[in-house]
Amino acid sequence: MSDDEEEAKIESRLEGEDIYSPSEEFKKQANVNDPGIYEYAEENYEEFWADKAERLDWYEKWDEVLNWDAPHAEWFVNGKLNVSYNCIDRHVENGEGDKTAIIWEGEPLDETVEYTFSELQDEVSKFANALKDMGVEKGDIVTFYLPMVPELAIGLLACARIGAPHSVVFGGFSPSALNERINDAESKVLVTADGYYRRGGEIEMWEKAQEGVEDTPPLEKVVCVDRLGRDEVELDGDEEVYYHDIVEDQPTECEPEKMDAEDMLFLMYTSGTTGKPKGVVHTTGGYLTGVSATHDWVFDIKDDDVYWCTADIGWITGHSYIVYGPLANGTTTVMYEGTPDHPDKDRFWQIVEKHEVSKFYTAPTAIRMFMKWGEEYPEKHDLSTLKVLGSVGEPINPKAWKWYYEHIGGGECPIVDTWWQTETGMMMITPLPGITDLKPGSATKTFPGLKADVLDEDGNSVPTNEGGYLVVKRPWPSMLRTLYNEPERYVSTYWSEYDEETYFAGDGARIDEDDYFWVVGRLDDVLNVAGHRLSTMEMESALVDHPAVAEAAVVGKPDDMKGQVPVGYVILDSNYEPSDELAEELRGHVGEIIGPIGKPHAVRFSEDLPKTRSGKIMRRILKKLEKGESAGDTSTLRNPDIVEELKEKVSE
Ligand code: PRX
Repeated sequence: MSDDEEEAKIESRLEGEDIYSPSEEFKKQANVNDPGIYEYAEENYEEFWADKAERLDWYEKWDEVLNWDAPHAEWFVNGKLNVSYNCIDRHVENGEGDKTAIIWEGEPLDETVEYTFSELQDEVSKFANALKDMGVEKGDIVTFYLPMVPELAIGLLACARIGAPHSVVFGGFSPSALNERINDAESKVLVTADGYYRRGGEIEMWEKAQEGVEDTPPLEKVVCVDRLGRDEVELDGDEEVYYHDIVEDQPTECEPEKMDAEDMLFLMYTSGTTGKPKGVVHTTGGYLTGVSATHDWVFDIKDDDVYWCTADIGWITGHSYIVYGPLANGTTTVMYEGTPDHPDKDRFWQIVEKHEVSKFYTAPTAIRMFMKWGEEYPEKHDLSTLKVLGSVGEPINPKAWKWYYEHIGGGECPIVDTWWQTETGMMMITPLPGITDLKPGSATKTFPGLKADVLDEDGNSVPTNEGGYLVVKRPWPSMLRTLYNEPERYVSTYWSEYDEETYFAGDGARIDEDDYFWVVGRLDDVLNVAGHRLSTMEMESALVDHPAVAEAAVVGKPDDMKGQVPVGYVILDSNYEPSDELAEELRGHVGEIIGPIGKPHAVRFSEDLPKTRSGKIMRRILKKLEKGESAGDTSTLRNPDIVEELKEKVSE
């Protein structure tokens, strides 16, 4: 097949897209339903964001909306506010003190704890006072290494209250990752736990934390949350204290600190291309403006919503859309401690039914897993309270999108596929459910006022439907301000690929004939096969398009002739058995959809794939196996054992 024929094939695939328009009924009730908002925000960019900032309470108004000295931005210059006040106190003062702020659902079925905004105010104030007693001052970074317990949300808000930035290290990370992050942030205080529940068992955390705090000279105190309720951790003198002991006698008032809009709210470490994680710095005024505005419009938030984002607060999604965005909007937010399959594979749907969840936000990897488990699990529950469904973290393949739409949303809920990053702080490319016509697999358009593009290597916009590098062309309020202690790396990583006005996202994308963005994934997931650029994500999508495939990962294998060839790892649907014939059929299927160049060199069947605890497939490990290299550090995997099994398959 010639290149032209191949292109034509890809084009014809694009034409077959389905479009899902919002219903008249949904449009009518939506918070925003006038498409003119895009034009308004484009023409009045700063005013648009100033209006959004006005939704918050400020002690002092800003002098200037934006000071852009590329690539350095300051938003709401000289404005003063407090994030904890905005997420809690102002709702109490507005008469919402008895409204539920947080519904915490433990993994054990009988454990639910609810906090009203008034109760949250008390708890946050008490812990804020305890932090102060431990010597934490404005500007000191507090590290958290916790499972999904209420103390994590309370802790972040307590830090925000006293102006101490937080750094949350995901609870599934290894002790060495914790150690590195405590030292890098020079944290004086670590908040951790004895353990937590996972699939009915108890998982130990304290020992891991103990290992992590070895050789951390700045650290003075370790606070332990007694999650397992055993009260039996051996605390070492004054340096290690129980959370309940230090908050017990604290007053329930703590005056919120007046923070500058540009003061650091938190630090979040994220992996970069080098070994050292990047400390992404987010600030106070712009961040809260961005996350609250996007949460409101993208989820079409109403007063009586029960909103549930299934992410872990250890990631940016949890920071922005479990804690800060929803609480700033006075929304009831659900936190769940456990896994989707405990005690059975319907746990999520049981929670949706129990709390009458109306807005639900999860990841494509979870949706594909639900698909594999089968629709009988959601069918056991009344999901009719759901109104909007969200997706984040990776491109959602159309098959999973449609399954989500039909079996979770009952064919009635718009799906908001939101593209954003740790660095962007807020959703950037996303539908507005009362306006946007949805195309399964596309994150659709930039949030009003934002400007993004797809460029070729020379910095020119690529023609319609051609792949290139996704960039953002204008500062936005919740953008990262710098990398902690590495200001030069901030410039070189994000603002140097083209020029200092152009944010380089590191993702590949294309823009279609309707100006819809199709993000294909990280550029390091893009293969170059005989000079053709192919997205592993697209091939994965092609694989899962086959009825036999429940989940798939595609990585590049070095090839003398072609540079790289794609190899597919496949988890089969429970109705299928692995066989050479099926492997051949799947190769052919991908070849059919993508064109012969995309035909996988091999298909390897497996029961599972190496995944992080948050469910992301670690393609990096698969790539290493294909290269014949050692898998490297597998300690952050949910299932490290699978690596050995796969290694054998590769050597076969
Ligand atoms: O590759 C994109 C992918 O996730 C990356 C950001 O990862 P992280 O900083 O961990 O934040 C995840 C949660 C915001 C992006 O560079 N990504 C995220 N959302 C989408 C996505 N890719 C396609 N579609 C999305 N909706």
